[in-house]
Amino acid sequence: MKLFIDSADINKIKMLTEYYSIDGVTTNPSIIVKEGKPFLPLLKEIQSSLGVEKELFVQTIADKAENIVEEAEYIQKSLQGNIVIKIPVTSEGLKAIKLLSGIGIRTLATTVYTPLNAYLAAKAGANYVAPYVNRIDNLTGNGIQVVKDIVEIFVKSNFNCEVLAASFKNTQQVLEVCLAGAHGVTASPDIIEAFLKVPSIKENVETFSREWYELYGNKSLLD
Ligand code: E4P
Repeated sequence: MKLFIDSADINKIKMLTEYYSIDGVTTNPSIIVKEGKPFLPLLKEIQSSLGVEKELFVQTIADKAENIVEEAEYIQKSLQGNIVIKIPVTSEGLKAIKLLSGIGIRTLATTVYTPLNAYLAAKAGANYVAPYVNRIDNLTGNGIQVVKDIVEIFVKSNFNCEVLAASFKNTQQVLEVCLAGAHGVTASPDIIEAFLKVPSIKENVETFSREWYELYGNKSLLD
């Protein structure tokens, strides 16, 4: 199961990729704008921290399919490496996904709120769909159930499209989408760091060290 960082914060990306096995970075216009930096240089900076072989997801902003395709081609030719174009699942977005799929540009259908949104995106040729788990929950829907239903439809229809669950407020939601069969998750640095926030780990490690040094003094395991 893939793990992506949902952020454009260079320091966080560097830290998380140093310590954890990360498959790439997802961005959207709100995430980009938060950094207050020029668009393409920021994306290039992310790639040099992440490695160009890892997937970098970049979202379009145009409304009309032809303009979305134009933006996608511009992003693709301006950046090297493994780029996936994120496109919202509007009717124009679906048309753009279909056109891009025809010319071999990889896409992720974003702002997915229902299993049928995802179904249309997979039919159009999207490589990924991103159901917005927490935003669905905020609408009194059931984000986890939406992920389960999408996974079931994709398996039954044999779609070659991955479910990349997105929009998380806590680690429990991440755990549940993992169990629901999502192919990947994208989460903010805070949520990823929270995977390891178990006080017992630190307590146990401290006990191991204390007991070791009580018997062996200051000797390391290599002495
Ligand atoms: C990723 O594809 C989405 O843009 C993102 O996860 C949305 O997350 P949010 O609901 O926490 O803003």
